[in-house]
Amino acid sequence: MASTASRVFVPRFVQLHHGNAAAVRAELAAGLQASAAFTSPKYLYDALGSRLFDAITELPEYYPTRTEAAIFDRHGPAMAALIPVGLTLVDLGAGNCQKAARLFELLHPARYVAVDISVAFLRDALTALQCQHPGLDMLGVGLDFSAQLTLPPDAGEGSRLVFYPGSSIGNFTPEDALVFLRQARQAANGGAVLIGVDLIKPVAVLEAAYDDALGVTAAFNRSLLRHINHLLGSDFEVGQWRHRARFNAQDARIEMHLEALQDLTVRWPGAQRHFGEGEHIHTENSCKYTPPQFDALLREAGFSRVEQWRDEQDWFAVFLARD
Ligand code: AVI
Repeated sequence: MASTASRVFVPRFVQLHHGNAAAVRAELAAGLQASAAFTSPKYLYDALGSRLFDAITELPEYYPTRTEAAIFDRHGPAMAALIPVGLTLVDLGAGNCQKAARLFELLHPARYVAVDISVAFLRDALTALQCQHPGLDMLGVGLDFSAQLTLPPDAGEGSRLVFYPGSSIGNFTPEDALVFLRQARQAANGGAVLIGVDLIKPVAVLEAAYDDALGVTAAFNRSLLRHINHLLGSDFEVGQWRHRARFNAQDARIEMHLEALQDLTVRWPGAQRHFGEGEHIHTENSCKYTPPQFDALLREAGFSRVEQWRDEQDWFAVFLARD
């Protein structure tokens, strides 16, 4: 007699990214010593920065998170109708895994692969999620997919749905976004990419979202300086810097900067940099697209079937791209 017992999984974890402290210091020092100083936005996300970002997503001014959620609530079934059941769901930047978990009932994936820079960020969330979905094979992968999106063999073969919500694609330049989308298409292996994209809208709405009244985004940006002190051994004083966010219309992006409130010198082992009053460190770009621009980018990346769903105000779009 055949057994009716269904399989119960335990989550598996694989860490592929191993930070290189010397390379991080060299990267930070080079950016700080550039004539127009800059740092990569990835350094915004230490433990405190990640918590501050979570708080940002709760702010009334920060429309992307709730607008995207509303699009999934309203159009999720239409999206699911175009996605075969039984794919591997690959969740990029999974964090607490909640956005992808809401898709389980719609998509019935065969496997869930949560990807973040460190499996330490995924362990608790994935373990709790596995208890709720014991019959779903789950894998946590620690990978810096912004550098190279190559999944380990443990992710299994076959077609995948690559899920990249939250408009994090906007934190790439359009050129790097194209490289990333090509890699996402490879990773989908004949499946699909489901991606959230923030759209161009009135400047006042955009700038308020990145410079909120409570100052949470300012804290998120200024907190970067403490993270840099930790990584580089520098002596930034947070109180000497103010948060700036402005829309650069020519490049269609919100830029975050830190502006020196006075003449000052920052020192770290082996080097230093003088900043004049008003001088900036460029800390993040958040690129905004029109729907036709992003559609064209997906097609340039090799996708031929592209669908999109937007909210009523056309503030945000979710794209489904297939070969
Ligand atoms: C993670 N990323 C999509 C956010 C954004 O909107 O670009 C990061 C952020 N920066 C300031 N506020 C939120």
